[in-house]
Amino acid sequence: MPRLIVVGSGIAGLFAAISAYRRGVRDIVLVTKAALEDGATRYAQGGIAAAVGVEDSWELHAADTMSAGVELCDREAVGVLTREAAPRVADLIDLGVRFDREYGRPACAREAAHGVARVLHAGGDATGRHIEEALAGTVRALGVEVRDATFVDNLIVEGGACRGVRLLAGDELEADTVVLAAGGAGQLYASTTNPSVATGDGVALALRAGAIVADIEFFQFHPTAFAGPVGWHFLVSEAVRGHGAVLRNHGGEAFMAQYDPRAELAPRDVVARGIVREMVRHGLANVWLDATGFPHGEFARRFPTIDAHCRRQGCDPERALIPVSPAAHYMMGGVWTDVWGRTSIPGLYACGETAATGVHGANRLASNSLLEGLVFGSRVAEAVAGASGVGVVRHPEPEPLTLGRDSRAVPAARASIRARMWQDVGILRDGEGLKRARGTLARWAAAPPGDEVEARETANLALVGWAMAEAAWRRQESRGAHHRLDFPTPREAWRRRQFFVLPSYEPPATVFCGAGSGRQVES
Ligand code: SIN
Repeated sequence: MPRLIVVGSGIAGLFAAISAYRRGVRDIVLVTKAALEDGATRYAQGGIAAAVGVEDSWELHAADTMSAGVELCDREAVGVLTREAAPRVADLIDLGVRFDREYGRPACAREAAHGVARVLHAGGDATGRHIEEALAGTVRALGVEVRDATFVDNLIVEGGACRGVRLLAGDELEADTVVLAAGGAGQLYASTTNPSVATGDGVALALRAGAIVADIEFFQFHPTAFAGPVGWHFLVSEAVRGHGAVLRNHGGEAFMAQYDPRAELAPRDVVARGIVREMVRHGLANVWLDATGFPHGEFARRFPTIDAHCRRQGCDPERALIPVSPAAHYMMGGVWTDVWGRTSIPGLYACGETAATGVHGANRLASNSLLEGLVFGSRVAEAVAGASGVGVVRHPEPEPLTLGRDSRAVPAARASIRARMWQDVGILRDGEGLKRARGTLARWAAAPPGDEVEARETANLALVGWAMAEAAWRRQESRGAHHRLDFPTPREAWRRRQFFVLPSYEPPATVFCGAGSGRQVES
């Protein structure tokens, strides 16, 4: 059995490690840069989507996922995600996750752009915490070697294949297989629901190693983060709108129907843009979410975590409107993989938010995030253990990203990256801003990083931010979460995904492939 290194400890990394162990892989090292429980998973509120209700089916779930993704989803990957949702949720229950129940069955909530109520939740709005605790507890109980507070600085690629990781501390860990499950990059933006660890490390590692990335221009903004002090914004779950809460402007007007007939239950990108437009139109710093119509005690019962947060901020959701505004939430692009989590580099796999399987297209359906970590974490393990996904990887043909060397380049301050991304690569974009961002971020990305973890994280943010700005600048249309004021509608010529590789970091002799149907690598 191979030696396996898993980088990251959210739902995808933990479940990949557990699933690999259960398939007989014993030599597993799980590396995480903070504590085992410190990923974004524990902050997930709404829940996990799975067609378990009597009126639901995986086909309906797949149709909603494809529709939210605005014609850019990979059909095969969506089929895998939605078909395997129910069995993987059953695995979570076996591992001790206690989903909320109603009338003797798992309780299913409604969320935006879902045709039926299909979002399972635990502890009301504490689904991520329940899952993270169960999985971290299992990893410890199995005796998987965990290296916490350990920062992976680079992947070791030799002979065109991934052979392990190089740590910032200087030592190298060899492996037959490396799984990148390092989460997202919300720290790219001035306002985000993501914790401080979300610095795009997995995508940056893959880019520097010469792996293909995909869909990197699509970053999801959650419509309703609690509008408190700038920085890390507390999420007010989509499930609150699914439960009937209404968005209002300063005059108390329910404004969403002006922007989309589905109003509060329109897809996430549509609601986020509607809110921004309303804020701009009236010069508002935020709008408000009105849950005062809920029956007495209902908000605290159904959303205890959000209720406690609001009350700490002096807002009683039963009586007062909750101030909300959009914040960066989820990286939909990432390291290109096939449906077994295999990247374009043999020996290198990716899953969860770090990966781009094609399940999200241009806009992720609510509560498909925990699900993607679970389903593809399991599939990666199956492939690593040799049970499936063997043989040739057919990857797409990438375009080169050219990161010039600039002697004037200086490392960026994190705050500057976050401000630039928020302003120019945010919810509403245009060619001028994207051009400005790609130029500035290219200089920051080309600069040599400092030696501390924080400096390395900032360099990772600069690299990923630059790739996003570049991809967004090239995509001359609006689709899903990528909205350009200078190209405000979808365009037929752009009904295709973008794939990129950073040739300057490629191992010798492979560079990027030319025209053709795609390069094949043995895995
Ligand atoms: C939420 O609870 O609104 C977030 C869930 C998700 O990101 O899908």
